[in-house]
Amino acid sequence: MARKKITVVGAGNVGATLVQRLAEKELGDIVVVDIPQMEGMPAGKALDILESGPVYGYDSFVSGTTEYVPTANSDIVIITAGLPRKPGMSRDDLLNTNAGIVKSVTEQVVKYSPKCILIVVSNPLDAMCLVALRTSKFPKNRVMGMAGILDSARMRTFLAQELKVSVENVHAMVLGGHGDTMVPLPRFSTVAGIPVTEFISAEKLERIIQRTRDGGAEIVKLLKTGSAYYAPSASVAEMVEAILKDKKKIVPCAVYLEGEYGIRGVFVGVPAKLGFQGVEEVIQLNLSPVEKAALEKSAEAVKELSEALK
Ligand code: NAI
Ligand code: 2OP
Repeated sequence: MARKKITVVGAGNVGATLVQRLAEKELGDIVVVDIPQMEGMPAGKALDILESGPVYGYDSFVSGTTEYVPTANSDIVIITAGLPRKPGMSRDDLLNTNAGIVKSVTEQVVKYSPKCILIVVSNPLDAMCLVALRTSKFPKNRVMGMAGILDSARMRTFLAQELKVSVENVHAMVLGGHGDTMVPLPRFSTVAGIPVTEFISAEKLERIIQRTRDGGAEIVKLLKTGSAYYAPSASVAEMVEAILKDKKKIVPCAVYLEGEYGIRGVFVGVPAKLGFQGVEEVIQLNLSPVEKAALEKSAEAVKELSEALK
């Protein structure tokens, strides 16, 4: 069987770390692309990662370029191109700059890999997914965004720390847009299968929920020169693995909704089943009126931002 081909657009912090993770998981051969002004940088990072193969024990071929010809016929393309947040900047401040970048990248990607699955990472995430969907004209199952796994991973980390249990015991569900209105759902979050609400006071839970919402900003504030990339790249790698191995894995991710949860015409984080076809199913949770209202409010915020796209 031919090896899978993966393209990562943007060889910055998220992109390069993702390439490393994908190679370490031996998910396929990887091409990383950046802009012509960065000539040499993607090739240098790719070669460095390739040369880790003998030590780490992987045979994924990794190459870097500033052109799209070498990306041709990729099975999956991950778009991490764009500017990251600086301190004091919201994800939404990035809207129109990154929309221009995501549009031009998508045009190139589609030209050379018309059958690929697109995973968008660039912020503001949900609006950038819409740009990629509209530009690519792909069916909705082949365009999705990464955010929910990351936001849930943050919540899982904080819950595991608080409860002094393994992170592997903790599952969390964070839906909605990847922004201040995201919707952490304690009722669907568990510790060893038991609802988390049985382990923790409402007050402590509320603090963890707020820290989850502020999770991206917390890292930006500490780093000062950019935003998170270790947990984001790990989260994308989980999605790539689910798709390329046809795992039918249910994870929260940004999906184009056409009536599910009563939401239409926007990308919003919901639980989705990922496999060879990309998004193979949207899982409809039975939300309480309060949870449903929070998800609708979040979708409204995404819609407002998406409408501000020039
Ligand atoms: P970075 O600045 O380290 O890397 C971005 C890279 O994109 C740079 O190397 C830049 O040269 C490249 N680039 C810019 N325009 C390009 C183009 N037209 N074609 C190809 N490459 C281009 O930024 P970082 O930390 O890697 O973040 C990337 C994006 O991902 C940001 O928008 C950030 O906000 C977003 N992000 C989203 C997350 C999520 O949960 N969805 C999590 C973390 C980051
Ligand atoms: C994050 O949540 C910046 O969106 C990015 O870390």
